[in-house]
Amino acid sequence: MSKIIAKYPSNIALVKYWGKYGYQLPCNPSISLTLKNASTTVELEKKAKTKEGIELDYFFEGIANESFKNRMVDYIGKQPEFEQLFKEFAILINSENTFPHSAGIASSASAFAAISGALLKASGYNQPDFNEVASNLARKGSGSACRSYFGPYALWGELDGVARSNNEYAVPLEDIHTNFQSMCDTILIVEDQPKKVSSSVGHGLMKDHPYAAARFVDAKKHCNEMLSTLKSGDFNQFISITEREALSLHAMMMTSGDYYLLMKSGTIQIIEQLIEYRKETDLPICFTLDAGPNVHLLYPKSIEEKANEFIKAIQDQTKSILYDEAGFGGEIRSECNK
Ligand code: DP6
Repeated sequence: MSKIIAKYPSNIALVKYWGKYGYQLPCNPSISLTLKNASTTVELEKKAKTKEGIELDYFFEGIANESFKNRMVDYIGKQPEFEQLFKEFAILINSENTFPHSAGIASSASAFAAISGALLKASGYNQPDFNEVASNLARKGSGSACRSYFGPYALWGELDGVARSNNEYAVPLEDIHTNFQSMCDTILIVEDQPKKVSSSVGHGLMKDHPYAAARFVDAKKHCNEMLSTLKSGDFNQFISITEREALSLHAMMMTSGDYYLLMKSGTIQIIEQLIEYRKETDLPICFTLDAGPNVHLLYPKSIEEKANEFIKAIQDQTKSILYDEAGFGGEIRSECNK
Protein backbone atom coordinates (compact mmCIF):
# COMPACT_ATOMS: atom_id res chain seq x y z
CA MET A 1 0.00 0.00 0.00
CA SER A 2 1.12 3.55 -0.54
CA LYS A 3 2.62 5.80 2.06
CA ILE A 4 1.91 9.53 2.27
CA ILE A 5 4.62 11.93 3.28
CA ALA A 6 3.57 15.41 4.33
CA LYS A 7 5.96 18.14 5.47
CA TYR A 8 4.43 21.39 6.71
CA PRO A 9 5.99 24.33 8.54
CA SER A 10 5.11 26.27 11.66
CA ASN A 11 4.24 29.96 11.49
CA ILE A 12 4.63 32.99 13.69
CA ALA A 13 1.70 35.38 14.02
CA LEU A 14 2.36 39.09 13.50
CA VAL A 15 -1.23 39.94 14.39
CA LYS A 16 -2.35 37.40 16.96
CA TYR A 17 -5.33 35.07 17.11
CA TRP A 18 -6.40 35.13 20.75
CA GLY A 19 -9.97 34.21 21.59
CA LYS A 20 -12.28 31.82 19.75
CA TYR A 21 -15.96 30.93 19.43
CA GLY A 22 -18.01 28.03 18.05
CA TYR A 23 -15.92 25.24 16.58
CA GLN A 24 -12.47 26.82 16.55
CA LEU A 25 -13.50 30.06 14.85
CA PRO A 26 -11.40 33.13 15.61
CA CYS A 27 -12.76 36.20 17.41
CA ASN A 28 -10.46 38.36 15.28
CA PRO A 29 -8.49 37.98 12.06
CA SER A 30 -4.78 37.20 12.30
CA ILE A 31 -1.77 37.51 9.97
CA SER A 32 1.31 35.31 10.13
CA LEU A 33 4.71 34.78 8.61
CA THR A 34 5.13 31.19 7.47
CA LEU A 35 8.41 29.62 8.54
CA LYS A 36 10.76 27.49 6.50
CA ASN A 37 12.93 25.41 8.83
CA ALA A 38 10.63 24.65 11.75
CA SER A 39 8.40 21.95 10.34
CA THR A 40 6.67 18.64 11.02
CA THR A 41 7.00 15.64 8.72
CA VAL A 42 4.26 13.07 8.90
CA GLU A 43 4.45 9.62 7.33
CA LEU A 44 1.05 8.04 7.02
CA GLU A 45 0.39 4.40 6.19
CA LYS A 46 -2.88 2.62 5.58
CA LYS A 47 -3.17 -0.77 7.31
CA ALA A 48 -5.80 -3.51 7.35
CA LYS A 49 -8.53 -2.88 9.89
CA THR A 50 -8.77 -5.18 12.89
CA LYS A 51 -11.88 -3.78 14.58
CA GLU A 52 -14.75 -1.31 14.26
CA GLY A 53 -14.24 2.40 14.84
CA ILE A 54 -11.26 4.71 14.44
CA GLU A 55 -7.99 2.75 14.56
CA LEU A 56 -4.97 5.02 14.83
CA ASP A 57 -1.41 4.36 15.88
CA TYR A 58 0.45 7.59 16.48
CA PHE A 59 4.19 7.79 17.03
CA PHE A 60 6.06 11.01 17.74
CA GLU A 61 9.78 10.70 17.01
CA GLY A 62 9.51 6.92 17.26
CA ILE A 63 7.64 6.81 20.56
CA ALA A 64 3.92 6.06 20.91
CA ASN A 65 2.25 9.24 22.13
CA GLU A 66 -1.04 8.36 23.78
CA SER A 67 -2.15 11.84 24.81
CA PHE A 68 -1.70 13.33 21.33
CA LYS A 69 -3.28 10.21 19.83
CA ASN A 70 -6.38 10.73 21.99
CA ARG A 71 -6.58 14.38 20.87
CA MET A 72 -6.28 13.14 17.25
CA VAL A 73 -8.94 10.43 17.61
CA ASP A 74 -11.34 12.99 19.06
CA TYR A 75 -10.54 15.38 16.18
CA ILE A 76 -10.82 12.70 13.47
CA GLY A 77 -14.17 11.52 14.82
CA LYS A 78 -15.59 15.03 14.26
CA GLN A 79 -14.52 15.34 10.59
CA PRO A 80 -16.92 13.75 8.06
CA GLU A 81 -14.15 14.13 5.44
CA PHE A 82 -12.20 11.32 7.16
CA GLU A 83 -15.12 8.99 7.86
CA GLN A 84 -14.72 6.76 4.79
CA LEU A 85 -10.93 6.49 5.24
CA PHE A 86 -11.29 5.18 8.79
CA LYS A 87 -14.14 2.87 7.76
CA GLU A 88 -11.79 1.16 5.32
CA PHE A 89 -8.41 1.35 7.02
CA ALA A 90 -6.46 1.47 10.24
CA ILE A 91 -4.00 4.37 10.06
CA LEU A 92 -0.41 4.51 11.25
CA ILE A 93 1.17 7.95 11.65
CA ASN A 94 4.81 8.68 12.37
CA SER A 95 5.52 12.31 13.09
CA GLU A 96 8.83 14.18 13.46
CA ASN A 97 9.70 17.80 14.10
CA THR A 98 12.81 19.55 12.78
CA PHE A 99 12.94 21.62 15.96
CA PRO A 100 13.53 20.44 19.53
CA HIS A 101 10.38 19.69 21.48
CA SER A 102 11.41 22.12 24.16
CA ALA A 103 12.04 25.03 21.80
CA GLY A 104 8.75 26.71 22.56
CA ILE A 105 7.79 26.74 18.88
CA ALA A 106 4.09 26.21 18.25
CA SER A 107 4.38 22.53 17.38
CA SER A 108 0.60 22.08 17.12
CA ALA A 109 0.56 24.41 14.08
CA SER A 110 2.98 22.36 11.99
CA ALA A 111 1.69 19.06 13.40
CA PHE A 112 -1.97 19.70 12.58
CA ALA A 113 -1.09 21.17 9.18
CA ALA A 114 0.90 18.02 8.31
CA ILE A 115 -1.59 15.55 9.79
CA SER A 116 -4.66 17.17 8.22
CA GLY A 117 -2.90 17.39 4.84
CA ALA A 118 -1.83 13.74 5.03
CA LEU A 119 -5.29 12.50 6.10
CA LEU A 120 -7.00 14.50 3.37
CA LYS A 121 -4.69 13.06 0.74
CA ALA A 122 -5.14 9.57 2.16
CA SER A 123 -8.90 10.10 1.82
CA GLY A 124 -8.34 10.51 -1.92
CA TYR A 125 -9.07 14.26 -2.11
CA ASN A 126 -7.25 15.73 -5.06
CA GLN A 127 -9.06 18.89 -6.10
CA PRO A 128 -7.35 22.22 -6.91
CA ASP A 129 -8.65 23.69 -3.62
CA PHE A 130 -6.73 21.03 -1.63
CA ASN A 131 -4.90 23.61 0.50
CA GLU A 132 -8.08 25.48 1.40
CA VAL A 133 -9.88 22.29 2.40
CA ALA A 134 -6.84 21.09 4.37
CA SER A 135 -6.50 24.52 6.02
CA ASN A 136 -10.14 24.33 7.11
CA LEU A 137 -9.58 20.87 8.59
CA ALA A 138 -6.31 21.86 10.29
CA ARG A 139 -8.02 24.89 11.86
CA LYS A 140 -10.40 22.54 13.64
CA GLY A 141 -7.39 20.75 15.18
CA SER A 142 -5.45 23.87 16.15
CA GLY A 143 -6.43 27.34 14.95
CA SER A 144 -2.99 28.66 14.03
CA ALA A 145 -2.29 25.51 11.94
CA CYS A 146 -4.62 26.74 9.17
CA ARG A 147 -2.13 29.50 8.25
CA SER A 148 0.78 27.09 7.63
CA TYR A 149 -0.39 26.11 4.13
CA PHE A 150 0.42 29.47 2.57
CA GLY A 151 3.45 31.68 2.54
CA PRO A 152 5.26 33.88 3.05
CA TYR A 153 2.23 35.57 4.66
CA ALA A 154 -1.22 34.21 5.43
CA LEU A 155 -4.42 35.78 6.69
CA TRP A 156 -7.01 33.86 8.67
CA GLY A 157 -10.31 35.55 9.39
CA GLU A 158 -12.81 37.74 7.68
CA LEU A 159 -11.39 41.13 6.71
CA ASP A 160 -13.19 43.71 4.59
CA GLY A 161 -11.44 44.33 1.32
CA VAL A 162 -9.59 41.01 1.18
CA ALA A 163 -11.25 38.74 -1.34
CA ARG A 164 -11.92 35.23 -0.04
CA SER A 165 -10.86 36.10 3.51
CA ASN A 166 -12.98 34.12 5.96
CA ASN A 167 -13.05 32.53 9.39
CA GLU A 168 -13.02 28.92 8.15
CA TYR A 169 -9.62 28.74 6.48
CA ALA A 170 -6.57 30.89 5.78
CA VAL A 171 -5.69 32.59 2.51
CA PRO A 172 -2.30 33.66 1.17
CA LEU A 173 -1.55 37.38 1.12
CA GLU A 174 -0.63 38.86 -2.20
CA ASP A 175 1.24 42.03 -3.24
CA ILE A 176 4.01 41.73 -0.68
CA HIS A 177 6.62 44.51 -1.00
CA THR A 178 10.17 43.28 -1.70
CA ASN A 179 11.21 44.65 1.72
CA PHE A 180 9.15 41.92 3.37
CA GLN A 181 9.69 39.06 0.97
CA SER A 182 12.69 37.52 2.68
CA MET A 183 12.26 38.03 6.38
CA CYS A 184 14.29 36.16 8.99
CA ASP A 185 12.86 34.91 12.26
CA THR A 186 15.57 34.14 14.79
CA ILE A 187 14.14 32.55 17.89
CA LEU A 188 15.93 33.33 21.14
CA ILE A 189 15.06 30.55 23.56
CA VAL A 190 15.10 32.01 27.06
CA GLU A 191 13.14 29.16 28.65
CA ASP A 192 12.78 25.61 27.42
CA GLN A 193 10.40 24.20 30.00
CA PRO A 194 6.76 23.49 29.03
CA LYS A 195 4.56 26.52 29.69
CA LYS A 196 2.22 26.52 32.66
CA VAL A 197 -0.91 27.61 30.80
CA SER A 198 -1.79 26.22 27.37
CA SER A 199 -2.97 28.43 24.51
CA SER A 200 -6.35 26.69 24.56
CA VAL A 201 -6.85 27.73 28.18
CA GLY A 202 -5.67 31.26 27.27
CA HIS A 203 -8.22 31.49 24.44
CA GLY A 204 -10.92 30.36 26.89
CA LEU A 205 -10.03 33.15 29.31
CA MET A 206 -10.96 35.71 26.62
CA LYS A 207 -14.61 34.64 27.00
CA ASP A 208 -15.27 36.88 30.00
CA HIS A 209 -12.20 39.07 29.69
CA PRO A 210 -12.93 42.71 30.60
CA TYR A 211 -10.94 43.99 27.59
CA ALA A 212 -12.02 41.35 25.05
CA ALA A 213 -14.23 43.58 22.89
CA ALA A 214 -11.57 46.28 22.64
CA ARG A 215 -8.89 43.69 21.88
CA PHE A 216 -10.87 42.21 18.98
CA VAL A 217 -11.45 45.67 17.48
CA ASP A 218 -7.76 46.52 17.92
CA ALA A 219 -6.57 43.27 16.32
CA LYS A 220 -8.80 43.82 13.29
CA LYS A 221 -7.42 47.35 12.94
CA HIS A 222 -3.90 45.94 13.16
CA CYS A 223 -4.69 43.43 10.41
CA ASN A 224 -5.85 46.24 8.13
CA GLU A 225 -2.76 48.28 8.95
CA MET A 226 -0.46 45.28 8.50
CA LEU A 227 -1.99 44.58 5.09
CA SER A 228 -1.22 48.06 3.81
CA THR A 229 2.23 47.94 5.46
CA LEU A 230 3.14 44.66 3.75
CA LYS A 231 2.19 46.31 0.45
CA SER A 232 3.92 49.65 1.04
CA GLY A 233 7.15 48.23 2.50
CA ASP A 234 7.13 50.58 5.52
CA PHE A 235 9.41 49.02 8.15
CA ASN A 236 8.54 51.51 10.89
CA GLN A 237 4.88 50.61 10.59
CA PHE A 238 5.73 46.91 10.54
CA ILE A 239 7.77 47.25 13.73
CA SER A 240 5.14 49.26 15.52
CA ILE A 241 2.23 46.91 14.69
CA THR A 242 4.22 43.72 15.35
CA GLU A 243 5.59 44.78 18.73
CA ARG A 244 2.30 46.27 19.88
CA GLU A 245 0.57 43.00 18.97
CA ALA A 246 3.07 40.90 20.91
CA LEU A 247 2.65 43.01 24.03
CA SER A 248 -1.15 43.15 23.63
CA LEU A 249 -1.27 39.35 23.56
CA HIS A 250 0.66 39.15 26.82
CA ALA A 251 -1.37 42.02 28.31
CA MET A 252 -4.48 39.88 27.72
CA MET A 253 -2.90 37.03 29.68
CA MET A 254 -1.88 39.35 32.51
CA THR A 255 -5.35 40.89 32.82
CA SER A 256 -7.61 37.85 32.44
CA GLY A 257 -9.72 36.65 35.41
CA ASP A 258 -7.24 33.87 36.11
CA TYR A 259 -4.27 36.12 35.33
CA TYR A 260 -0.89 34.66 34.44
CA LEU A 261 2.47 35.70 33.11
CA LEU A 262 4.46 33.83 30.47
CA MET A 263 7.25 36.35 29.98
CA LYS A 264 10.39 35.78 32.03
CA SER A 265 12.89 38.38 33.22
CA GLY A 266 15.14 37.23 30.35
CA THR A 267 12.37 38.02 27.86
CA ILE A 268 12.08 41.62 29.08
CA GLN A 269 15.85 42.12 29.25
CA ILE A 270 16.24 41.08 25.61
CA ILE A 271 13.31 43.23 24.47
CA GLU A 272 14.79 46.27 26.21
CA GLN A 273 18.22 45.63 24.72
CA LEU A 274 16.72 45.23 21.28
CA ILE A 275 14.83 48.52 21.52
CA GLU A 276 18.03 50.24 22.65
CA TYR A 277 20.02 48.64 19.79
CA ARG A 278 17.40 49.76 17.28
CA LYS A 279 17.55 53.32 18.61
CA GLU A 280 21.33 53.36 18.21
CA THR A 281 21.49 51.73 14.78
CA ASP A 282 18.15 52.60 13.19
CA LEU A 283 18.03 49.07 11.80
CA PRO A 284 14.69 47.48 10.83
CA ILE A 285 14.70 44.76 13.47
CA CYS A 286 11.91 44.02 15.89
CA PHE A 287 10.54 41.40 18.24
CA THR A 288 7.43 39.37 18.55
CA LEU A 289 6.33 36.80 21.14
CA ASP A 290 4.28 33.67 20.88
CA ALA A 291 2.26 32.46 23.86
CA GLY A 292 5.52 31.87 25.70
CA PRO A 293 8.68 33.56 26.95
CA ASN A 294 10.89 33.16 23.88
CA VAL A 295 11.72 36.15 21.72
CA HIS A 296 11.31 36.01 17.95
CA LEU A 297 13.57 38.54 16.23
CA LEU A 298 12.25 39.63 12.85
CA TYR A 299 14.40 41.42 10.27
CA PRO A 300 14.97 41.37 6.51
CA LYS A 301 17.71 39.09 5.22
CA SER A 302 19.49 42.17 3.86
CA ILE A 303 20.58 43.14 7.40
CA GLU A 304 21.43 39.61 8.53
CA GLU A 305 25.06 40.42 9.31
CA LYS A 306 24.14 43.40 11.48
CA ALA A 307 21.39 41.41 13.21
CA ASN A 308 23.94 38.72 14.00
CA GLU A 309 26.01 41.30 15.89
CA PHE A 310 23.07 41.90 18.19
CA ILE A 311 22.36 38.17 18.51
CA LYS A 312 25.99 37.50 19.39
CA ALA A 313 25.93 40.20 22.04
CA ILE A 314 22.95 38.70 23.85
CA GLN A 315 23.50 34.99 23.17
CA ASP A 316 24.71 34.34 26.74
CA GLN A 317 21.23 35.28 27.91
CA THR A 318 19.65 32.50 25.85
CA LYS A 319 19.42 28.72 26.27
CA SER A 320 19.63 28.21 22.52
CA ILE A 321 18.98 30.02 19.26
CA LEU A 322 17.02 28.80 16.24
CA TYR A 323 17.47 30.43 12.88
CA ASP A 324 14.47 30.49 10.60
CA GLU A 325 13.11 32.51 7.72
CA ALA A 326 10.08 33.06 5.54
CA GLY A 327 8.78 29.92 3.86
CA PHE A 328 6.13 29.12 1.32
CA GLY A 329 4.02 26.32 2.81
CA GLY A 330 4.27 22.55 2.70
CA GLU A 331 4.94 19.58 0.48
CA ILE A 332 2.95 16.41 0.18
CA ARG A 333 3.54 13.26 -1.86
CA SER A 334 2.65 9.57 -2.08
CA GLU A 335 5.21 6.80 -2.24
CA CYS A 336 4.48 3.22 -3.19
CA ASN A 337 5.68 0.64 -0.67
CA LYS A 338 7.70 -2.10 -2.31
C1 DP6 B 1 -0.51 33.10 20.59
O1 DP6 B 1 -3.58 27.88 17.53
O2 DP6 B 1 -2.21 27.17 19.53
O3 DP6 B 1 0.18 31.58 18.92
O4 DP6 B 1 -6.61 26.81 18.41
O5 DP6 B 1 -6.42 26.29 20.84
O6 DP6 B 1 -4.89 25.16 19.20
P1 DP6 B 1 -5.70 26.40 19.54
O7 DP6 B 1 -4.67 27.56 19.77
P2 DP6 B 1 -3.37 27.93 19.00
O8 DP6 B 1 -3.22 29.46 19.44
C2 DP6 B 1 -2.20 30.25 18.93
C3 DP6 B 1 -2.09 31.49 19.70
C4 DP6 B 1 -0.90 32.36 19.34
C5 DP6 B 1 -1.27 33.40 18.29
C6 DP6 B 1 -1.37 32.95 16.87
O9 DP6 B 1 -0.67 32.01 16.45
O10 DP6 B 1 -2.11 33.63 16.14
